[in-house]
Amino acid sequence: MTKTEPTQLSADAWDELHFPRPTEQEFDRVVERAISRRGFLGGVLAFGSGAAAMGAGLLNSTSAQAQQAAGQRGRFAFKPIPIATDGTVHVPEGYDWQVLVRWGDPLFSAAKGDFDATPAGSAAMSDKVFGENTDGMEFFTVGARQVIAVNHEYTNPKTNLPAAQEGVPASAEDVRKLQNLQGVTVMEVREGGKGWEVVVDSPLNRRITHNTPMEIRGPAAGHPLLQTAADPTGTRSLGTVNNCGSGKTPWGTYLTCEENFNGYFGATGELPSDEAIAEGYKRYGIGADGWGYDYHKWDARFDVTQNPNEPHRVGYVVEIDPAQPEAAPVKHTALGRIKHENAEVVVAPDGRVVVYMGDDERGEYLYKWVSRDIYVPGGDTSTLLEEGTLFVARFNDDLSGEWLALTPETTGMDAAQIAIFTRMAASKVNATTMDRPEWVATNPVRAEAYCSLTNNKNRGLKPNAGGDATPVGGPNPREANRYGQIVRWRPLGDDHAAQGFTWDLYVMAGNPDVHAGTPYAGSANINSGNLFNSPDGMALDSTGLVWIQTDGEDDNEGDFAGHGNNQMLAGDPVSGEIHRFLTGPKGCEITGLCWSADLRTMFVGVQHPDAPFPDGEGKLPRSSIVAIKRTDNALIG
Ligand code: FEO
Ligand code: CA
Ligand code: CA
Repeated sequence: MTKTEPTQLSADAWDELHFPRPTEQEFDRVVERAISRRGFLGGVLAFGSGAAAMGAGLLNSTSAQAQQAAGQRGRFAFKPIPIATDGTVHVPEGYDWQVLVRWGDPLFSAAKGDFDATPAGSAAMSDKVFGENTDGMEFFTVGARQVIAVNHEYTNPKTNLPAAQEGVPASAEDVRKLQNLQGVTVMEVREGGKGWEVVVDSPLNRRITHNTPMEIRGPAAGHPLLQTAADPTGTRSLGTVNNCGSGKTPWGTYLTCEENFNGYFGATGELPSDEAIAEGYKRYGIGADGWGYDYHKWDARFDVTQNPNEPHRVGYVVEIDPAQPEAAPVKHTALGRIKHENAEVVVAPDGRVVVYMGDDERGEYLYKWVSRDIYVPGGDTSTLLEEGTLFVARFNDDLSGEWLALTPETTGMDAAQIAIFTRMAASKVNATTMDRPEWVATNPVRAEAYCSLTNNKNRGLKPNAGGDATPVGGPNPREANRYGQIVRWRPLGDDHAAQGFTWDLYVMAGNPDVHAGTPYAGSANINSGNLFNSPDGMALDSTGLVWIQTDGEDDNEGDFAGHGNNQMLAGDPVSGEIHRFLTGPKGCEITGLCWSADLRTMFVGVQHPDAPFPDGEGKLPRSSIVAIKRTDNALIG
């Protein structure tokens, strides 16, 4: 596979493939530490089994609650479906799906017919169409209009550029096309006689790309490390990149999260030699060649030889107002610079805003941010996300945990440094290295949060990129974890702003048909009928069901036999039961989930299919959003 051929790989997998490895010296040191820890705990398998039993025990311990909620136990309003290995979407009997929008579909009438007239669409129209690789999304009501804001995480250059170029940009125009196909779409949608459709030319339609002007605010705004020749103030940047998961504030704005931003940068000459910059490059995986997108050869902003500070201006949570198409998006440095997955917003009992965020890389950390000021419905929210405190999670083996504040006192770093080099700050406070934290989702019916820990083949074997050990234990109980698990926690006092919490594992994915009797079989709520791996996207619906989307191995062989294509499942938080609801086309990842305001439609993203979805044989594969309804038009979450 060449470096410019990400087909069948998620951006996460692509970044894993190219991320610089830690040095051997660090590796040896950390393995030694991990082995001594395993000795203390009585062996990795024993501990892994204990953890499996613990997960099952916790699920069983809720059986009294489950009985009390007996009315809920049968509340899955669908019959689970089998795995699929084909090229289309499947949903249960009694449900229908349709395509809402595909990569290349026009948002403005100027782009009508463009995708068919020009293979994969023209560069000129690339910022007037629905972008590539649909990801996190949220649904808004703006006056009488219904709006979806949705991310376009990365591109598939071999598909997006003329086939003869084999994915390699040959001009600045090629690079501009790729840049335009990423970022965010804001689009009005409506349901008519033929189902859901995009309202072409709506005044709310908007594309935000790698070149859209935006503001930088919070503790890092204006810092010398954010200043560039084009922006000596360090407060105005262009574009948002690798927009992965999403969030929605109670005041009606959209949060888009910059994840694997490192992949876009390269060097035409020397890498920066400044020690602080070089250390940051190493921790965040910024190197000479990026992912092979070759942006730096055509757009100097992405050439770190010329612009060594440009990478410090990405890796943030960005706020967009879907009701204000002219307003500049705002990069919130207060929420830290990490490979942000999503931003789950919840309001604490005293009105402070809490934002949960995962840093999706092997052995990185789980964060939350708590605002200084309180949210007052109808009040001024324009600076609410600018002042507050970042915390990082420590999980103890006794099922307790605490949030460790990242402050000048605890880290020896000032507020701007904590915001820019958040990973290095987290490494100083003895937090828990995690198995790649993806989406965090909170339960609307009780104070509880869930985080997908998608997998970590290095668990117990290699440190993270900062040299922090990744011992087997706690919520990361399996060495060389290829299946993933979901951890959940309940804040003390039902207050998401509290420092302490209790936790358990909601599920450990696995394969009981291949690994019976070992931790790799998975937890007690995994069986032959609901096999999956690599939980990723996640949201709880208004009734408290947890919807789990996957971005994993779909070869359906060996360790993954019986897992089929990537999928979406629904889990009951009380009984632990998990049922498969949807299967995607071969090669895709299922990511992005939101509901219409009337809760009669569920929107689900199908990203980077390998099969020619949705148009069939001979057509290009196109990332798409599908709209799913019950055939009786009843509520769907
Ligand atoms: Fe973009 Fe970690 O998923
Ligand atoms: Ca993801
Ligand atoms: Ca993933």
